[in-house]
Amino acid sequence: MTTIAIDLADPEYRLHPWPIYQRLRDESPVHLMPGGMWDGSDFYVLSRYDDVALALRDKKLFSSHIRRGDYLDLPILVNRDAPDHTRLRHITNRAFNARLVRTLGDYVQQIVDGLIDEVLAARQVEYVEAFTTALPLRIVGGMLGIPLDRKADLRRWSQAVTEAFAVAGGMDPALAPGFFEDFMEFGNYMEYLAGQRAGEPSRGDIMGDLVARREAGDLTRDELVGLGWSFVAAGHETTMNLLGGGTQMLLSDPALAALLVAEPDRTEDFMEEYLRLFSPTQWVLRRPVEDVVLHDVLIPAGELVHVVIGSANRDPRKFPDPDVFDLDRENKDEHMAFGGGPHFCPGAMLARLFVGRAFRSLYPHLGRLSLDPDEPPQLRTRQGAYGIARMGILIDNGA
Ligand code: HEM
Repeated sequence: MTTIAIDLADPEYRLHPWPIYQRLRDESPVHLMPGGMWDGSDFYVLSRYDDVALALRDKKLFSSHIRRGDYLDLPILVNRDAPDHTRLRHITNRAFNARLVRTLGDYVQQIVDGLIDEVLAARQVEYVEAFTTALPLRIVGGMLGIPLDRKADLRRWSQAVTEAFAVAGGMDPALAPGFFEDFMEFGNYMEYLAGQRAGEPSRGDIMGDLVARREAGDLTRDELVGLGWSFVAAGHETTMNLLGGGTQMLLSDPALAALLVAEPDRTEDFMEEYLRLFSPTQWVLRRPVEDVVLHDVLIPAGELVHVVIGSANRDPRKFPDPDVFDLDRENKDEHMAFGGGPHFCPGAMLARLFVGRAFRSLYPHLGRLSLDPDEPPQLRTRQGAYGIARMGILIDNGA
């Protein structure tokens, strides 16, 4: 009997989960964590690529309606199955459709350039505050018509969403005091924004579209609010990790930086391989609709399952030498950092657009930037969200 303990309160599982993932994949691909949730209930862990892909893609076998009938039973995409999910997803896909995203290049570039100018004008910045959260908040916030002056609140509220996600996954809510109050405030703010737009002609932005859908009876009030805040939270809690970790990698690996400066068209390879290796969303949650047997282990219907994307993306059965960053890896695009199946990230194209623009625009200035030894990168504190929470950067501005 394999004893691999997964302690959701243990910083090691958050900071350096890779050896635990390897043991899970090799010794216990369907792993039961008895009493692993803060309330003493069990959960299961899937860690191999094929099993994670199955759980993400087979909606007849695995449900995404994780919380039912309690305070976290939120009417949002990641907590719904068909037919509600299909309806909400249809509205979401309109907001982030490929044709629309392709028209956003100039809008995105203007925001990227403005923020890079702000960074370059300083001598030292806390980069997460100054760039990696500011950029997605401005882009996604702008698409929703949210004024810039709410940045600090949006950060706090979005963190509360990450806390809610960790609590849904089994973390003790006492470890995140005040998260639910922040979370409610976020909802109230979205309701206020929607209320301001009610009855107005749509300005062609996402909020206008959501309000129009609400007025047409396609969305409930709670669904409108939930879509609004989940776009903000999902849009920046993830991209900040790619932006922050990617910049750290560029500043620590001069050969990689030189290659990308010389060949900016390799930026997409860089982003995909980074996402594979350091997936910002380490795990998502599912519950089997019926009893499921995998690798001779029974997962009873309704049990909570941690579907560990971060482990699947390092499974040597799929990616040879999985812990090595390899820009030339042939199948890196098959990573599942954006999920898969019906819940595949609707913001993937937008994220690739603005993070790609950000890296390309940073390359000419990399020589002036360095990691601040007095404020080294610190990883985030919440299970499930991998990435940098704070990182000092020094700027040589010739002054
Ligand atoms: C590097 C950036 C990003 C990563 C790694 C990422 C990752 C993910 C993953 C893994 C899922 C699947 C969740 C599940 O299966 O339960 C997801 C769903 C989602 N993402 Fe992203 N995401 C990113 C950027 C964005 C952006 C920019 C937006 C919007 C502005 C966004 C909005 C959403 C939404 C609304 C969902 C729910 C979709 C559904 O359940 O149908 N994401 N994302």
